[in-house]
Amino acid sequence: MASGKNSVLIVGSGGREHALGWKISQSIHVNKIYFAPGNGGTAENIEIKQNDIDKMVAFAKRQSNLLTIVGPEEPLSLGIVDTFEKEGLKIFGPSKAAAMLEASKTFAKEFMRNAGIPTAEFAIFSDAQKAKDYVTRQNKPLVVKADGLAAGKGVVVCDNADQAIAAIDMIMTKKEFGLAGSRVVIEERLAGEEASFIALCDGKSIMPLASSQDHKRIFDDDKGPNTGGMGAYSPAPVVDKELHKKIVKQVMEPVVNTMRKRGNPFTGFLYAGIMVNEKTHNPSVLEFNARMGDPECQPIIMRMKSDLYQYIDAAVDGRLGSMPPIEWSDQTAVCVIMAARGYPGNYKKGMAIEGLDSNFGQDVMIFHAGTIRGSQNRIVTNGGRVLGVTALGKDARRAIDSAYSAVRKIHWGDNDHYYRTDIARRAIMR
Ligand code: AMP
Ligand code: GLY
Repeated sequence: MASGKNSVLIVGSGGREHALGWKISQSIHVNKIYFAPGNGGTAENIEIKQNDIDKMVAFAKRQSNLLTIVGPEEPLSLGIVDTFEKEGLKIFGPSKAAAMLEASKTFAKEFMRNAGIPTAEFAIFSDAQKAKDYVTRQNKPLVVKADGLAAGKGVVVCDNADQAIAAIDMIMTKKEFGLAGSRVVIEERLAGEEASFIALCDGKSIMPLASSQDHKRIFDDDKGPNTGGMGAYSPAPVVDKELHKKIVKQVMEPVVNTMRKRGNPFTGFLYAGIMVNEKTHNPSVLEFNARMGDPECQPIIMRMKSDLYQYIDAAVDGRLGSMPPIEWSDQTAVCVIMAARGYPGNYKKGMAIEGLDSNFGQDVMIFHAGTIRGSQNRIVTNGGRVLGVTALGKDARRAIDSAYSAVRKIHWGDNDHYYRTDIARRAIMR
């Protein structure tokens, strides 16, 4: 790794990719960053769609000393890593086979059962009628999940059998998520507090990142439908030292060891969505993602003191085991997502964003997601989740105040922006 001679290509266009690029641009080992396709906040953007693997390969071949980092799940599940590696190109992310941990919930559940990883009891169905019969026989709250990728919308948390049957109809009969709904996982509904636990993996060992907590529902107090995530903060106080150890020993290490034994070593960001049982304080896995979380990435990155590039480079080379633990700021970081009003349903695009040139003060970052540069270089909205306003503070309260005071300086359209007002409140209530 020659100092300053390396370039990086970041695949994706979300707030996660902006945050990764921002952090990596600070590395003394990197002198050039590209985003494909990137967004209105990132530079230098390359006009290649995130799933266009052939064009991505052609671009990468023209660069020297390039490391490609994949943000989103779609290119991973299409095998971007396998293709790059076949071409001798350096890339960070799981292979198509390893990304199955996210791309197929039935695969993930069976994997967990075989590896002895704690997770909710479940059954798998490819026949809608059999699924409904099962739901009727079970006399308890259930969760119905489409097997395949559904942009975070394929999970329905149900209070009763009628809701579960409606969810089965939506996924399997109406095929709202297409082939992703050919099979469903029906699992026991767990109670507790959620946390996101993410680690860098090199196929053999793991390097845990700081804990975080996401806010998946659209409205305050966790009401309304699930979204990609409306805000996040780090650290998550629920993940104390003891729980951290349990998650490493009972979840992360078994995943890496079992994947390696199966001949599909996991290299990349491994994300476990965890439910923490209030009484036992034991973790149970709700889902795996084969990538960084979005928006969890934004507050985690704000707290990272170490050079992320060095760690990713070590992971690609299988050297994570010899790296010292990552250093973290002991401050709290809070990310509030500013979304287009109407998201996760229909919403308008193309509105000029006002206030981006405000003085936000130190320790505030405005990470872009659904934005593009319009005419006269103005930043306009171009997606559901538009900005991730992220602030560091001495404690959760100060980080919250600082993030929201930045949020209040930004707006677009005629009251067309929307955000939750209770991000990280739980961290204070603890
Ligand atoms: P998933 O994509 O599987 O993580 O599910 C999305 C969200 O649904 C999770 O973050 C939880 O809030 C909720 N969820 C998923 N599985 C369960 C479960 N077994 N019990 C309770 N809530 C769940
Ligand atoms: N924020 C949840 C996810 O990235 O899937």
